[in-house]
Amino acid sequence: MSTDAVDLKRRRFLTVATTVVGGVGAAFAAVPFVASMNPSERAKSLGAPVEIDISKLEEGQMVRVKWRGKPVWVVRRTRDMLDALVSLNDTVADPDSGMDQQPEYAKNAYRSVKEEYLVLVGICTHLGCSPQFRPEVAPADLGADWKGGFFCPCHGSRFDLAGRVYKGVPAPTNLEVPPHHYLADSRILIGEDGGAA
Ligand code: FES
Repeated sequence: MSTDAVDLKRRRFLTVATTVVGGVGAAFAAVPFVASMNPSERAKSLGAPVEIDISKLEEGQMVRVKWRGKPVWVVRRTRDMLDALVSLNDTVADPDSGMDQQPEYAKNAYRSVKEEYLVLVGICTHLGCSPQFRPEVAPADLGADWKGGFFCPCHGSRFDLAGRVYKGVPAPTNLEVPPHHYLADSRILIGEDGGAA
């Protein structure tokens, strides 16, 4: 390997490490957060599937991991959060996931393999910012009708807790559900289809 190649590799590693540390700090300040998984740098750089252990994820929490350089979120939804989704069908743009933003096995009312666990690519479908996880109900800045979801501060797009985009915001489609499947009850493999466990 040439010296240039080694330098480049090291620089890339340092960039990733810095990004991860910064992300964790920001998340702790804002929302309940479980820091767990750090898939190998090699796996990440190759775009390989990434495994997430969700055994410590509590109801209402979100965990983040990187897959192919993109943020991927797993949210463990409460029963109240799931029930609230039905009431939002008239206010979201694509309630039945008609657009091609998810694998077939996530084309259902909750956009997930298991009702409880939502898996999303955390990139706004407008211009690519990463939205904020805002699970609280009716916070002052988002209004009395807010039932929890994701808010993109870049241009104000809003998504519910199934990643469905609200009508009338700049983002054109629901957030993307990446290919994934369950290796066990508490282990999800992101990046590879496999159907329900
Ligand atoms: S990038 Fe999210 S609203 Fe524009």
